[in-house]
Amino acid sequence: MELEKLTTIVVNIAKTAGNFIRTEGENFDPAKIEYKGHNDLVSYVDKTAEKIIVDALLPLIPDAGFITEEKVIARDGEVYNWIIDPLDGTTNFIHALPTFSVSIALQKGNELVLGVVYEINRDECFYAWKDGGAYLNGKKISVSANDSFNKSLIATGFPYYDFELLEKYIDIFRELTKICHGVRRLGSAAVDLAYVACGRFDAYFEYNLNAYDIAAGMVIVREAGGLATDFRLNDDNFASREILAGNAGIAQLMSGILKTHFFKESTDC
Ligand code: IPD
Ligand code: CA
Ligand code: CA
Repeated sequence: MELEKLTTIVVNIAKTAGNFIRTEGENFDPAKIEYKGHNDLVSYVDKTAEKIIVDALLPLIPDAGFITEEKVIARDGEVYNWIIDPLDGTTNFIHALPTFSVSIALQKGNELVLGVVYEINRDECFYAWKDGGAYLNGKKISVSANDSFNKSLIATGFPYYDFELLEKYIDIFRELTKICHGVRRLGSAAVDLAYVACGRFDAYFEYNLNAYDIAAGMVIVREAGGLATDFRLNDDNFASREILAGNAGIAQLMSGILKTHFFKESTDC
């Protein structure tokens, strides 16, 4: 099936799962929260949404593999792999904050070829396919043209379970906060990337992420004309667990700041 047509189908699947999540959020019982690890929350809503998505994707590419957060299925595909976060922003969902999303990507070999991020409460669907451009609810989007910090808005995700780099992180926050319009933490990596793709954020960075947090958003940023790389501007297929996204100019500037703080020892020698 051609990628554009496949994307349309995946958009509908993301919306179906998103509608389920929105409805469950209306009367969500906090007693249903489980902990997968320190500050790592989940509930039946994440798991059921994932089942809805997987069941709908299975017939589209029968031999595709699945890399998913809740692991309702786990298998390697020889050529194609779906990369899914059924509910990105679970902490927001559980605390009744509005920013959470469905994130679905398709990888062919090592290349990301399709991405859909559905921001549920704004009914905003961001999507892209390889060489097809990036879209928000049917309208073409592109990253911001702002390549200096003084008029930029930067997104990030704060560390919440691995605090080893916290001091360095705070130093970066201190530096950025003085030179740009502000630093935001929305709580959904997929939405952060989607907002970079449509120019709401000029750049986004975070570490300790999994492929399913960022794969769909990366496709959308790239097809919107931006970079989605690790902190050193390498396209490393998730191995670093880092993400830096933005237009080429601001990504270069951000990379300089991140390298100075995070990799100081190695750059000094
Ligand atoms: C989280 C969100 C958050 C980011 C975390 C992710 P989850 O995903 O994307 O913004 O800071 O690192 O784990 O757990 O809500 O799917
Ligand atoms: Ca996630
Ligand atoms: Ca999740």
